Amino acid sequence: MTSVTRRGFLGILAGAATGTAIGVPLLSGLRGSTSTGTVLRSQLPLPQPFTLPLAVPPVLAPARTDETTDYYEITQRAAAAEILPGVRTTIWGYNGTFPGPTIVSRSGRRTVVTHHNELPVPVVVHLHGGRTPPEHDGYPTDLLLPAGADAAAAAHHDHHHLGGNVAQGRRDYVYPLQQRAATLWYHDHRMDFTGASVWRGLAGFHLVRDAEEEALPLPRGDRDLPLMIADRSFAADGSLRYPSLDPTLLTTPGVSEPYGAGVLGDVILVNGVPWPVAEVSAVRYRLRLLNASNARRYRVALDPPPAGGNGLVQIGTDGGLLARPMGHDAIELAPAQRYDVVVDFGRYRVGQDVTLVNQFGDGTTAQIMRFRVARGGSDDTSVPDRLSEIAPLDRASAVVTRTMRFRHGDVNGMSGWTINDQPFSPDLINARPRLGTTEVWRLVSDFHHPIHRHLAHCQILSRGINGPGPYDHGWKDTLDLRPAEEAAIIARFDGYAGRYIFHCHNLEHEDMAMMGNFVTG
Ligand code: C2O
Ligand code: CU
Ligand code: CU
Repeated sequence: MTSVTRRGFLGILAGAATGTAIGVPLLSGLRGSTSTGTVLRSQLPLPQPFTLPLAVPPVLAPARTDETTDYYEITQRAAAAEILPGVRTTIWGYNGTFPGPTIVSRSGRRTVVTHHNELPVPVVVHLHGGRTPPEHDGYPTDLLLPAGADAAAAAHHDHHHLGGNVAQGRRDYVYPLQQRAATLWYHDHRMDFTGASVWRGLAGFHLVRDAEEEALPLPRGDRDLPLMIADRSFAADGSLRYPSLDPTLLTTPGVSEPYGAGVLGDVILVNGVPWPVAEVSAVRYRLRLLNASNARRYRVALDPPPAGGNGLVQIGTDGGLLARPMGHDAIELAPAQRYDVVVDFGRYRVGQDVTLVNQFGDGTTAQIMRFRVARGGSDDTSVPDRLSEIAPLDRASAVVTRTMRFRHGDVNGMSGWTINDQPFSPDLINARPRLGTTEVWRLVSDFHHPIHRHLAHCQILSRGINGPGPYDHGWKDTLDLRPAEEAAIIARFDGYAGRYIFHCHNLEHEDMAMMGNFVTG
């Protein structure tokens, strides 16, 4: 088990070169499309859409709590799931489920999640959107090795080469959660193998609540629905189909060509169910939209739209509530982004079907799920005109402007994905922000790159010569950077000192080196 050595990582790139390398013609063909990637087709019949009921992942009960802290236990293991009717699919899941259980935390209350690894591979857990001390943030080489493995040698090896903080069997992740209410999620983050591991099911919601949000008359309880949207493909034997060069996910990282630009599935799952249907009352619902896909972008809309339009009333995003609600007819979601919207099904008549469609999709990927307005209902909720306070960060307060170029490029003589022409290495530090200071980062792209930075949530200042786009408001941790685009983001770096990463959240790009380090101090 020496997979996560620097040499193993370079091996992937060497391997890629012997196949069809990502060539310029392929990539330029992608430039006009809505996602960067290649569709991997399922090899068995797919169900009719809107026949299976929506599932909502159960909220995990703490194993114990004390005055300051809630303690949770999660075992990562393989399990049999029935995702397609009558078909058995082995997933890798948190507590054996996909999505994993939802954790609900209180802002400012410590959450400790003890993860047990019963999978046949090392894992790393990252709380996406969490402001977390570096040793608990899920640095890609901070491995949690399988419980049973004879892994001492591997641990020693990894430690020696990458400085990873390696544990075996179990690991406590400590989350202070000194942050606003928001829709966060947790997922695997192991170096070189994140795409394949998340595809197999290692993803779940982690919601943070606070008094500010609870004081608002927003929909709650079973009218607050987390919706994890993820595309997948299935092989003829029912397994999740993914083009790993090494399906054991132990030795050679990477995917076969032509999937190096991103793996797109042809089945749209919501909370692990293909094209589900949910019966709703004719009242307001809060939908927490999460794009947990490896590479696919969505443009979600309601079909039919309600009379008068603005059917998706956005109230929040990655970093929690917006200052004011924003009405949209459609919302574009890049991988890892979250949009909290309120939909008022009272604008439809009882008996009507309302489909959540994907205007960026075609064929099977053009539809996401359906709501059936099954009954009337009383509704004492509303969307207030003021949701929260968001102080805009001022460009003039930035002590430095850094430029990060995200592009397809030469990685040690091979085809890969780079930041400022360099592939990821744990000891290559791209930026050293001083704690307490504000920085502007200019992000420049060739293709679609959903850029995610750990620790420091940002505000989007501009896209090219324009201001922020319609989906750029509020606090973000993931920016939807489109082809040949330049965006400026601003953030204050505070909280914790140490080494963190930023990376493309197209997971195939991430696994193929589009990741960098920054060190706060
Ligand atoms: Cu959602 Cu660095 O990850
Ligand atoms: Cu993250
Ligand atoms: Cu990318």
